[in-house]
Amino acid sequence: MVYEGNNKMIYKLAESTWSAEEKNAAIDVINSEKCTMGDIVKKFEKSFCDMIGCKYAVMTNSGSSSNLIMMACLKFIKSKYKLNDWDEVIVPAVSWATTYYPIYQNRLTMKFVDVNLDTLNIDEDIIEKAISSKTRAILAVNILGNPCDYSKLKNICEKYNLILLEDNCESLYAKYDDRFCGTHGLMGTYSTFFSHHICTVEGGITVTDDEEVYHNLLSLRAHGWTRDLPKINHVKNKSGQLIDDLFDFVIPGYNVRPNEIFAAIGIQQLKKLPMFIEYRKENYNKFMQYVNLLNQMTGNAIRVQKMTPKSIGSYFAFTMIFEGMLRGKKREIMNFLYNNGIECRPIVAGNFTKNPVLTNMDCEIFGDMKNAQIIDDDGVFIGNHARDMSDNLKLFFDVMVKYIDGVR
Ligand SMILES: Cc1ncc(COP(=O)(O)O)c(C=O)c1O
Repeated sequence: MVYEGNNKMIYKLAESTWSAEEKNAAIDVINSEKCTMGDIVKKFEKSFCDMIGCKYAVMTNSGSSSNLIMMACLKFIKSKYKLNDWDEVIVPAVSWATTYYPIYQNRLTMKFVDVNLDTLNIDEDIIEKAISSKTRAILAVNILGNPCDYSKLKNICEKYNLILLEDNCESLYAKYDDRFCGTHGLMGTYSTFFSHHICTVEGGITVTDDEEVYHNLLSLRAHGWTRDLPKINHVKNKSGQLIDDLFDFVIPGYNVRPNEIFAAIGIQQLKKLPMFIEYRKENYNKFMQYVNLLNQMTGNAIRVQKMTPKSIGSYFAFTMIFEGMLRGKKREIMNFLYNNGIECRPIVAGNFTKNPVLTNMDCEIFGDMKNAQIIDDDGVFIGNHARDMSDNLKLFFDVMVKYIDGVR
């Protein structure tokens, strides 16, 4: 979600979480004059694996790029995971644009499935009906800090022999069944863009436990060459002739490398991540107290995101779907919040299937997108931050009370 906030706002959608540590780490890299990808990126990737509990991590320049190399990997890998042209990937109808684009960009089709109005994630109970003979993978998206139900998804994938992938760009540090999100399937992705749980300016990570997948990701990240791979590898073994091995191009890949500045900042941010999440959780509890009061006043007119059973969320933002006496008033409420200093926005990208870009992609919409459209019509979110937000949340409550008094 590329949105850096409006300075006039009192309660913003996103805020900086940097302090002296991040700034000094960035300055040290600049002073070293070794800013292109190197040892610090490797160190960040190692710290990320240690924290999240995965074998391999490949940092890129954005979550979108991490999705891109994840999908490309499935097209160019040699093993049983290889997908053929126009194989089908099941996706939720609510997610960010670059969850979807890499699927089409890699000559695959996507099938949109509606979402659950409580969790905002893909409705796991519809997926089975959507599976066809062309379906090869499910791309699960953990929306706004809330894990999907991986018990259900893993059962479906096992039953139909599907590959499970996770776009976890919005849910760093969220867990399902005591396992970090992003690590439930063959690959998972993360974003470290400004508004996310940690910020490295721009940045993304693709993780996996599979060595062949990892080697393909390394090659895809940088020109499709073998330079960054060990001598014996799953893409193409090196010859041992230095110059040849530096310029051996095997996969039609990209240049989506991060740089040492992003990684140095990321190492500092990772150390603070557990603390950031604690603040986010406390803020969520306070938000819920205010929502309960507002719901008493309005006869339950505000539906909020509910955490999936067996999960621990990472609380990206506070969502509200307006129902009952507030249904149909989204624009009015958004304007009211804005005019009172509270930034707000649609939930992710609303119902993605209504966008004109679909005419440019090979895709299918399975059934109606009823819940996605409700989210589109009546859904809003306000920010959650890595600090005590008591004042902001009190402001939110007071402004909502003022609005509700006006419509009663
Ligand atoms: C679900 C999801 N996937 C992918 C992305 C893309 O991440 P980035 O902005 O780092 O490219 C986002 C961005 O917010 C997202 O929300």
